[in-house]
Amino acid sequence: MDPQILTFDTPLAAAEACGDRTLGILDKARKERGIGTVAVSGGSTPRLMFRHMAQSGFDWTNIHIFQVDERCVPPDHQVSNFRMTKESLLDAIKIDPGQIHRIKGELAREEAAQLYIQDLVSTFRLAPGELPVFDVMQRGMGPDSHTASLFPGEPLIGDRTGIAAAVDVDKPYIDKVMRYRVTLLPGVLECARHTLCLATGADKADALHKVLRGSRDPFQWPSQISSPDMAWYIDKAASAQLDKAASAR
Ligand code: 6PG
Repeated sequence: MDPQILTFDTPLAAAEACGDRTLGILDKARKERGIGTVAVSGGSTPRLMFRHMAQSGFDWTNIHIFQVDERCVPPDHQVSNFRMTKESLLDAIKIDPGQIHRIKGELAREEAAQLYIQDLVSTFRLAPGELPVFDVMQRGMGPDSHTASLFPGEPLIGDRTGIAAAVDVDKPYIDKVMRYRVTLLPGVLECARHTLCLATGADKADALHKVLRGSRDPFQWPSQISSPDMAWYIDKAASAQLDKAASAR
């Protein structure tokens, strides 16, 4: 199924709409199944969305927040995805700490990946071989089309059975401090009930065009990894090279 493409005038409008949809899906999931689960991405784009979500007055009871990926740094490090999420969302909402599921970036990466897998297995009560099905997989995209910490050429892009893994992003354009990471794997991204991708800014325009209009090759364009219900929340700058992006506002 083709993803939905929602184009907004500004990064703020895209972020707010993505945040509202995230909360709407979580509320519905909680009504239907008793809990709601979301995995959130890092980088810098989600900040605006997190601030909007924090100010929404949303009731976080029985909502579990996980990370899509983390850089292997302590949680208070400047490039920690958890730190960004904490500063812009977690510090401002009322949520039981047991509902916050952090990747422990301060540990050796293999150990951090194993602990994260254990957390997912126990929270989702997974039988051996089962993958967690998130209500919302909130994804971002880098200018090279990476999503989560799955970068172009990463062999794990072919993995359909693993839950999470440690990766070594050995790219000249990636700062050494952000080289080692832990990420959810493609099988988990693909089975999410809803995937919401937030990508804004002119530096994403070329990658977005390749991902949405180019031929399918997730090894080269990891953001092509998809799930049955997938929507892109983008701004005008990011949509510059798309031929027929639907206008939402
Ligand atoms: C990470 C992310 C990553 C992110 C993109 C976009 O740890 O790097 O989770 O997948 O979504 O790199 O990052 P920006 O929002 O900073 O452009």
